[in-house]
Amino acid sequence: METPYQNHINKADFDHVYEPAEDSFLLIDALEKDLEYLKAKNPTFCLEVGSGSGVVVSAFGMAFPQTFCISTDINLKACVMSKQTAAYNKVLLDACNMDLASSFINKKFDVIIFNPPYVVTESEECGGTDITASWAGGAKGREVTDRLLEMIPKKLADNGVFYLLLIRENIPDEVIQIMSNYGYKCETVIKRQVRNEHQLVLKFYM
Ligand SMILES: C[S@@+](CC[C@H](N)C(=O)[O-])C[C@H]1O[C@@H](n2cnc3c(N)ncnc32)[C@H](O)[C@@H]1O
Repeated sequence: METPYQNHINKADFDHVYEPAEDSFLLIDALEKDLEYLKAKNPTFCLEVGSGSGVVVSAFGMAFPQTFCISTDINLKACVMSKQTAAYNKVLLDACNMDLASSFINKKFDVIIFNPPYVVTESEECGGTDITASWAGGAKGREVTDRLLEMIPKKLADNGVFYLLLIRENIPDEVIQIMSNYGYKCETVIKRQVRNEHQLVLKFYM
């Protein structure tokens, strides 16, 4: 998969929107690793929740030009940047300012992608709509992620796949158990240690 063009972004904009980092690129690497699997699914709708700068959903859209790409972010500036990044990379993207996937009623996606705010913080720090929403994950770094997990059965198509980036402190085994209770199988697509952070991308499917 190609890395999207990002030179249109002014460095100062990253004071307000998450700057693509190792976790963003690990997620792209996970999608690339699963490229043949994803191609076989021939996805019609892809949703990236929390798209930030838009690099991940743009990389997906460049690889799957026939797929309708939609992104959400709680941070309005991130939605604007995602839309611009997609446009610069010739990807058609609907960028929606919303909490997770809450405003999509009766809509199911073939692929859902999420690189959540995963840092363990006080619960009070979690739930902002500015740059703090990029990293503040509350208890276990999972408060935002756990809310999305609850939505997945309603938002993911029966034949769909959900990619989720986590770190060790998020206790991935608990996430796997939650999703297993909903009937999802899980595989680890890719793992990487970045300095003292152990990042991994899980995929869930029926
Ligand atoms: C770690 S950043 C990832 C950004 C981008 N996907 C990437 O990989 O570079 C997490 C993103 O999730 C967004 N976010 C946090 N809470 C959210 C929520 N409740 N609903 C939608 N987006 C949210 C943040 O604003 C931020 O853009």
